[in-house]
Amino acid sequence: AFTPRVFSGIKPSGGLTLGNYLGAIKRFVDMQGGEFETIYCVVDMHAVTVWQDPKDLHHATREVAAGYLASGIDPDKSILFNQSRVSAHAELGWLFNCVARVGWMNRMTQFKDKAGENSEGVSLGLYAYPALMAADILAYHATHVPVGEDQKQHVELTRDIANKFNHDYKVDFFPETIPVIEGPAMRVMNLRDGTKKMSKSGESDMERINMTDDADKIAKKFKKAKTDPDGIPETLEGLDGRPEARNLVNIYAALNDMTNEAVVAEYAGAGWGKFKPALADLAVEKLAPISIEMQRFMDDPAEIDRIMAKGAAKAKAIADPILDKTFDIMGF
Ligand code: ADP
Ligand code: NA
Repeated sequence: AFTPRVFSGIKPSGGLTLGNYLGAIKRFVDMQGGEFETIYCVVDMHAVTVWQDPKDLHHATREVAAGYLASGIDPDKSILFNQSRVSAHAELGWLFNCVARVGWMNRMTQFKDKAGENSEGVSLGLYAYPALMAADILAYHATHVPVGEDQKQHVELTRDIANKFNHDYKVDFFPETIPVIEGPAMRVMNLRDGTKKMSKSGESDMERINMTDDADKIAKKFKKAKTDPDGIPETLEGLDGRPEARNLVNIYAALNDMTNEAVVAEYAGAGWGKFKPALADLAVEKLAPISIEMQRFMDDPAEIDRIMAKGAAKAKAIADPILDKTFDIMGF
C-alpha cells in the first residue's frame, strides 16, 4: 500500500488568479495537516514550455511561492519547493517520455487548445509536458492530486503511464493516482462570457481577478462582468444555460465555503445590482489579507528563497530513492 500523499503544482507563468486560488491553493491549504502528506510545487519547468522572459520568470516563481505561503501553506506541514531544484523531475520525465505513446499525447486537448493553428511552431516541451507532469506526481508516489477540471486528462495520462510501466516491467511500483476534482471551484471561468477558464496568461486583465488586485479593481471587474438580464434564480436549475451567472454563483460559493444551492437560496430573486457588490465585498474580504501577506513575502525575497531551498531538500529525500529504484527496475 502507498502512503496517502498529495502532490500538486502551479506554473509561474504570470500573476496568480482567483482561479488558481479557488481551484488550487485554497484546496491545498484545506488538505494540509490531515490524512495526507502534502507536497506543493512551483512548476517552473512547465512554465518555459512557452516563452518566458527570464526576469519575469524569476519574479513569477517567487510570486507563486509567496501566494502559497500567504494563503496558509505552512512549510512545517507541507513540502514546498521549486520543481527545477529537484532534478528527479527532469530525469523521471525523460524516462516517461519513453513510456508514453505519441498517440496518447496526440489526444491531449489542452495541447490542441494551446498550440492552435501553429502546432508545428510550438516547443517540443509543450507537447511532452504531460509526461513531465506524470513525473512530478509519480516521483513522490503521490496517491491524490487536487487539480482543476482542466487538468483531469493529464492526471488520467499519469495513470496510463504508471500502468504501462508497471505492466511492461512486471512490477507494482507506481500508484494509480486519483485526481481530486470537486467543489464549486473546479472550473472558475473568465468574467467576459463565462465560457473560457480564468487564466494567468492570454485574455485581458479585466477578464480575470488577480490575487494581488486591490479592492477597487476587484469591485470594478465584477461590476463589468458580463451577465444576462435575469438575476439569481429561485433554484439551481435556473442557472442552466447561463454560464456567466453560474460562474458568479460558483465563485461566491467557493469563496465562502458554501454550496451553490446555499448561495441561490440566500440570494433567490436578487438582481445583479445586489449580487455583484456582495460578491465583490466577499472577494475583497477573503483576498485582501492574502494580498497584504504576499507583499510582505515579496519584500523579503531571501526568506522565500530560504524556505524553498529547505523544501527542495525534503523533496529530494523522497524523490531521489524513487528515481534510483526506477533506474534499477529498468536495468540501468
Ligand atoms: P493557469 O492555467 O492559470 O496558468 P496552472 O496551469 O498553473 O494555471 O494551474 C495551476 C492549478 O490551478 C491547476 O490545478 C489548475 O487546474 C488550477 N486552475 C487554474 N485555473 C483554474 C480555473 N480557472 N479554475 C479552477 N482551477 C484552475
Ligand atoms: Na493550466
